[in-house]
Amino acid sequence: MQLFKQLDELRSTVADWRRQGMRIGFVPTMGNLHNGHLELVHQARQHCDKVVVSIFVNPLQFDNPTDLSAYPRTLAQDCDRLGDLADGLFTPSAELMYPSGQQQQTRVQVPGIAEVLEGALRPGHFDGVSTVVCKLFNLVQPDLACFGEKDYQQLALIRKMVTDLNMPIEIIGVPTVRAEDGLALSSRNSYLSEAERAIAPILAATMKELAERMQSGERDFAQLIEDGRQRLDHSGFKTDGIDIVDAHNLLPITEHSQAAVILMAAYLGNARLIDNQVVPL
Ligand code: PAF
Repeated sequence: MQLFKQLDELRSTVADWRRQGMRIGFVPTMGNLHNGHLELVHQARQHCDKVVVSIFVNPLQFDNPTDLSAYPRTLAQDCDRLGDLADGLFTPSAELMYPSGQQQQTRVQVPGIAEVLEGALRPGHFDGVSTVVCKLFNLVQPDLACFGEKDYQQLALIRKMVTDLNMPIEIIGVPTVRAEDGLALSSRNSYLSEAERAIAPILAATMKELAERMQSGERDFAQLIEDGRQRLDHSGFKTDGIDIVDAHNLLPITEHSQAAVILMAAYLGNARLIDNQVVPL
């Protein structure tokens, strides 16, 4: 795996691969890689001849400076984990990404999706995500990019940005990788104490229970959400949001909706855990 810190080396290598007729896959990450990330790389490898991974802890998408400084930075361990699974690892600096500073950075804003649900709870977060992903796409110039379905709204945001801006990039959504007890893998799981880690699978279990009730015909979404919130809050979580919306556009469910998505977000100690499940209607 080649390590790229500078843009010119990355660009010339990718251009060289492309001259040889190769298809380039890309997996953007913020590092602290776990098996969920490795699955994204694996999927990119299935579709492409060469795969580039990026690691950049993007300050533009953090609404809280403490969260940004606490975010785990584990480059040496990440390189070991990637091994030869990827062909290139791009680790740009903040100066390379935002040479005029964050305030002066041109932003990419995806209307609608960026402002609802998680976007309403964390104003500016999704503008930071769409801006950095757009820049990374321009820097790496991939044919295809993989994103985890765990970040359901983020995936919808990226798909809309790529469509709206006519980016010639295929977006692949990769199913969430879970621990044996059902907890969705996330870099933020490393914030959990041993006691919190034992409680954490209740998030996925609660979501599954709501999904099963919907599958058996329950349609009182307000009641389902309230029951979910109570179960989480009584188990030691602090629920940040449970939403049941149209899986296609993240808007309220109508009689035309074909599938719903349950979106869960809850704090457990310092960790904000998220999860989601699509339920056919
Ligand atoms: O999902 C993430 O890790 C980040 O939001 C992403 C897509 C790498 C952008 O910084």
